[in-house]
Amino acid sequence: MREEEWLGILSRYVKPARVTHSLGVAQTARSMAERFGADPEKAYWAGLVHDVGKGFSPPLLLEYASRLHLDKDPVYRRVPSLLHGPAGSLWLREEGFFSDPELLHAVYAHTIPDLPMSRLDRILFTADMIEPNRKAYPGLTELRDLSGKDLDKLYFRALQQTLSYAISRGQVVHPGTLIAFNDELIRTKTGMEVD
Ligand SMILES: [Fe+2]
Ligand SMILES: [Fe+2]
Repeated sequence: MREEEWLGILSRYVKPARVTHSLGVAQTARSMAERFGADPEKAYWAGLVHDVGKGFSPPLLLEYASRLHLDKDPVYRRVPSLLHGPAGSLWLREEGFFSDPELLHAVYAHTIPDLPMSRLDRILFTADMIEPNRKAYPGLTELRDLSGKDLDKLYFRALQQTLSYAISRGQVVHPGTLIAFNDELIRTKTGMEVD
């Protein structure tokens, strides 16, 4: 598919600001993929498509959750928007837009990590948080700085910041984020491989 064609489809589901955000994530993910040894074109497309599920209504998101066996999860039931990654991923496959399992998994896991997180998964997860159109937040400068140096450290700090931010504001934390955080700590200590 051509990029313009996809952007036309995406525009039917999400607001213009989210199309701009998607382009920012795509460009950021591509340059990170070049730097960290992932497929740059796949990273670019993962960025372009990752947020299509943002345009889905809560009932539709919960319908996808049931099909993906995520519907017993109390956090997803309380905050259906957290399902836009898994729902978008399934939609992209079923509509016949993409079949690449690596790309689809990166989309699936871009908000709540789904282990194991590949290099591409980590790139999309973090590019989403640091793309140029993001409004400033505490810790953004540090994450952008790490994006030029160390993917695993960037991913770890991104998880840590996400958890700290949510907890300090009294917001719901999805256990998947905490599981990923613990996994990184344990994995780093035991020196196991990422991919
Ligand atoms: Fe998203
Ligand atoms: Fe996003």
